[in-house]
Amino acid sequence: MAANAIREGKIVVFPTETVYGIGANALDEEASRRIFEIKGRAGDNPLIVHVSNIEMAERIAEIPREYRSAIERVWPAPLTLILKSRGRVAPSVTAGLDTVAVRMPAHDVALALIRESGVPVAAPSANLSKKPSSTSAAHALSYFNGKADIIIDSGRSAYGLESTVLDLEEFKVLRPGAFTPDDIEEIFGSVPSIESETFEKPKSPGTKYRHYSPSTPLFLSEVEVKELASILKDFGRSYEIGFIGSSDSCKRLRRYAKHRISLGRSDDLYSIASNLFDALIKIDEKGADFAVIEGFEERGIGIAIMNRIKKASDHKKFSNVSELEMLVRHLPGC
Ligand code: TXA
Ligand code: MG
Repeated sequence: MAANAIREGKIVVFPTETVYGIGANALDEEASRRIFEIKGRAGDNPLIVHVSNIEMAERIAEIPREYRSAIERVWPAPLTLILKSRGRVAPSVTAGLDTVAVRMPAHDVALALIRESGVPVAAPSANLSKKPSSTSAAHALSYFNGKADIIIDSGRSAYGLESTVLDLEEFKVLRPGAFTPDDIEEIFGSVPSIESETFEKPKSPGTKYRHYSPSTPLFLSEVEVKELASILKDFGRSYEIGFIGSSDSCKRLRRYAKHRISLGRSDDLYSIASNLFDALIKIDEKGADFAVIEGFEERGIGIAIMNRIKKASDHKKFSNVSELEMLVRHLPGC
């Protein structure tokens, strides 16, 4: 049913191993445009095209000969490759670029959907623009009820963070994601460079937009949990404080932050990743005046975790009381 819907130009939300995607036939301009409309997505931010086999990828993009065997080995995986486009996908999908982002998702339901529809499926993450990505069908339903034609519920996403976007021409990570630099080195035999976030005109257009933001003002704590407890103590008298962090930190802050959401054990970064977007969505149900999120070690998948946390907090961070005071002073209504 969902594959038929894709063929008929309809919009289908489907699971992948990273996050849920909101998909349409990548060869159909009208259908692809609907995705931009429904998400409220800027037209200059191209979509990832999902394929179910290498031949499908080759129909829409040029696969460099020197990387072909590595790509055959690695896919399906949470790794999106920027390849030269053959100009076959709908123009809105590539936002006018001569490259196209291609990925083969490691999820049976996603692969079956693409295979059965027989066309490549363009799909950004299933969230309204600027909001946290969906890691469950319930999240997608809260964003797209009545707007998407079909939502496939396949439980929680395994990684909970989007794929890594790798530009093969420059061998550069444009967006850190579920596939770590170590994973890339293992498959391709060399270490990728990583695009700096402060770049004025990023090669991956999506990285310049605000992202993953809850409505609750969110600040990144750069101090140890013990010090955070003493900083929050004073604020607790005047504000309802939310906290997102490891299970251990949640426990230690129970007297200082009224609303706490645990991401899991701090030494299990894959668990932290898989709970992050759900926490960023749930924090808005708590009614906190502001929320604090703690940082994690920037290694392996921690690089992608911190990338999302920095964006979700709009780069607002503090490392002492007066810096938090400054942030709180600028809260709406203060
Ligand atoms: O895990 C994922 O990648 C999920 C699932 C659904 O596959 N999809 C996803 O799509 O995260 P989206 O649209 O939220 O992010 C796609 C990113 C954006 O930053 C976009 O700018 C970049 O990929 N991108 C797409 N085409 C590109 C291109 N031709 N050149 C450079 N960056 C591109
Ligand atoms: Mg997205």
